[in-house]
Amino acid sequence: GSRLYHPKVIEHYTNPRNVGSMDKKLTSVGTGLVGAPACGDVMKLQIKVNDKTGIIEDVKFKTFGCGSAIASSSYMTELVHGMSLEDAYKIKNTEIAKELSLPPVKLHCSMLAEDAIKAAIDDYKAKNHKIDTTFLLKQIK
Ligand code: FES
Repeated sequence: GSRLYHPKVIEHYTNPRNVGSMDKKLTSVGTGLVGAPACGDVMKLQIKVNDKTGIIEDVKFKTFGCGSAIASSSYMTELVHGMSLEDAYKIKNTEIAKELSLPPVKLHCSMLAEDAIKAAIDDYKAKNHKIDTTFLLKQIK
């Protein structure tokens, strides 16, 4: 029921930021598409990265999920806009859950947002050959 939801969740839910999508074929765009095993909900989050600075210049999301998932991804897009890839990768779902005062049963919804931003960053790096292969190469040698 709606008693579960904090006003901040309701606010992001009724007025979500940065909803939409970008052309995933662009090399500057990283796309993360993840699902929550707990409920089957799905979230897509995309970032547009400045190749020179490594800064996230644009963010878009689409969520086929519950109110907390929508609020979590909306808040996530606000958080990572203007952030470096490294900093964005370090964001924990607990930060989102805390900000939105999510109850324990809704923690996995914020996990979806953490998984989605990580997947988007990984996708961007893979596309631009920025995955650090030093470790892998050492294993081969
Ligand atoms: Fe599935 Fe929230 S209940 S993401």
